Amino acid sequence: MQAGCADCHIPEGLLPATLSHIIDGSRDLYGELTNDYQQPELWQARRTELAWRVRDKMLADDSRNCRSCHNEDAIRAQRKRGQRQHELAQREKVTCIGCHFNLVHEEVKPRESFLDKVRIDIQP
Ligand code: HEC
Ligand code: HEC
Ligand code: HEC
Repeated sequence: MQAGCADCHIPEGLLPATLSHIIDGSRDLYGELTNDYQQPELWQARRTELAWRVRDKMLADDSRNCRSCHNEDAIRAQRKRGQRQHELAQREKVTCIGCHFNLVHEEVKPRESFLDKVRIDIQP
């Protein structure tokens, strides 16, 4: 099963299934959003702002939507680095988005205030 837009972006149980369905159904929603902005620079600026907001929200709700599919205790990273980072994550209570930003969309640099919040915990 692959994650659809609504799985990551709509709080579980908050909206009727039909709405999630519509969002999931419009596969090109992301593209449509992009094309609404005639000037690429405008969209780029807007996108950065949106990305930052989504991350802050996930920080605040402890990556709730990620956890609806992923059971933290059950994740077994294949490589050593992942295993170490996940041990650290659990010990220091770093939430998923603290490390797994830029996972599905085009890259957006994290803002300082976000990094400040996770960096403290990630530094060994
Ligand atoms: C696996 C979870 C996941 C899925 C699936 C997902 N997103 Fe996102 N989305 C994120 C996260 C996390 C961010 C915050 C930016 C980042 O780190 O990538 C984000 C950011 C965004 C943004 C802000 C702009 C940007 O590019 O960062 C928009 C708009 C967005 N998502 C829409 C969508 C749409 C539409 C879909 C379905 C086509 C979708 N997302 C699927 C997790 C997801
Ligand atoms: C609808 C269920 C679902 C949701 C919600 C979801 N995931 Fe996943 N995720 C999966 C599945 C299934 C896989 C494995 C298949 C694949 O790689 O596509 C996966 C793979 C991954 C991987 C490893 C593969 C890769 O691309 O590197 C990471 C890391 C990950 N998810 C993190 C997250 C984070 C962080 C969130 C929240 C922003 C999230 N997931 C939300 C179902 C989900
Ligand atoms: C401290 C940083 C950190 C945190 C917090 C973190 N991860 Fe990871 N995760 C990693 C790293 C690093 C990897 C390995 C990536 C690689 O080797 O390419 C990884 C790998 C994964 C994988 C792929 C496992 C595999 O190797 O097949 C999944 C799925 C995943 N993480 C989900 C999550 C979820 C869900 C959360 C929150 C409950 C989370 N991670 C929190 C750093 C983190």
